[in-house]
Amino acid sequence: MMVADTLLQIREVTKRFGGLAALKDVSFDVTVGEIKAMIGPNGAGKTTMFDVLTGILHPTAGDVMLKGESIVGLRPDQITAMGMIRTFQTIQLFEGMTALENVMVGCHCRTACGFASSGLRQPAARREEKDIREKSMDVLKDVGLATRAGEIGTNLPYGQQRMLELARALASEPDIILLDEPAAGLNQYETGELAGLLVRFRERGLTILIVEHDMGLVMQISDEIVVLDYGEIIARGAPQDVQNDPRVIEAYLGIEA
Ligand SMILES: Nc1ncnc2c1ncn2[C@@H]1O[C@H](COP(=O)(O)OP(=O)(O)OP(=O)(O)O)[C@@H](O)[C@H]1O
Ligand SMILES: [Mg+2]
Repeated sequence: MMVADTLLQIREVTKRFGGLAALKDVSFDVTVGEIKAMIGPNGAGKTTMFDVLTGILHPTAGDVMLKGESIVGLRPDQITAMGMIRTFQTIQLFEGMTALENVMVGCHCRTACGFASSGLRQPAARREEKDIREKSMDVLKDVGLATRAGEIGTNLPYGQQRMLELARALASEPDIILLDEPAAGLNQYETGELAGLLVRFRERGLTILIVEHDMGLVMQISDEIVVLDYGEIIARGAPQDVQNDPRVIEAYLGIEA
């Protein structure tokens, strides 16, 4: 049975690559409106979990339910259409497109008319194109990139490219967004801006699952943290509890010493 406010259910997910179990029997839920963090040392299985959740990889065993429906076996675009979107650990912007166009592509993920039909210049498609342009500008404003709308996305400074990727994902109006190390490569000021932005979007009802190595950011914004190590959950709970958990400290000392 699904609890009414459970958005995403991860049930005993295992993912094997040959002899390596990148995920072993991982189970946790994401509740509507929360910011949940998934942390762990390099190679813990965090990105693999995102790949399983978004249909890029299929789990070896286990189930994933979005809004009470199993999404195992669905294509990434089908999962996006159901309201779950992600950003990638390495920036993936469209070459040669302006910042605004990058965001407009994000909007098209969940609208009836794609780029092909809007090219036909049907009145409905033209109206939709205008709506999408306006909506995309609003999202660019949200992430502080309104003045960069006309610049080629890949020409922007690194931190702004990261924000643009986030804007493109937000433009699809997801119910839940999966962020894979959104603060990687950001300076302290930009990380602070990102934190404020994520909290604002949560207040608007967005649910967030974030993978992040910046512990300051994770501790500041997360409602709950799940810690993975070698594909297994070794701790979970409120930020303060997880931070003081001896198993977590040990897992991190191995890489940070
Ligand atoms: N396609 C693949 N084929 C084989 N092994 C893989 C594949 N993808 C990931 N792995 C392995 O699975 C394990 C988990 O990798 P994953 O990328 O999920 O870790 P991560 O927690 O995201 O690490 P990082 O913090 O460095 O991004 C690693 O041992 C990795 O080498
Ligand atoms: Mg990763």
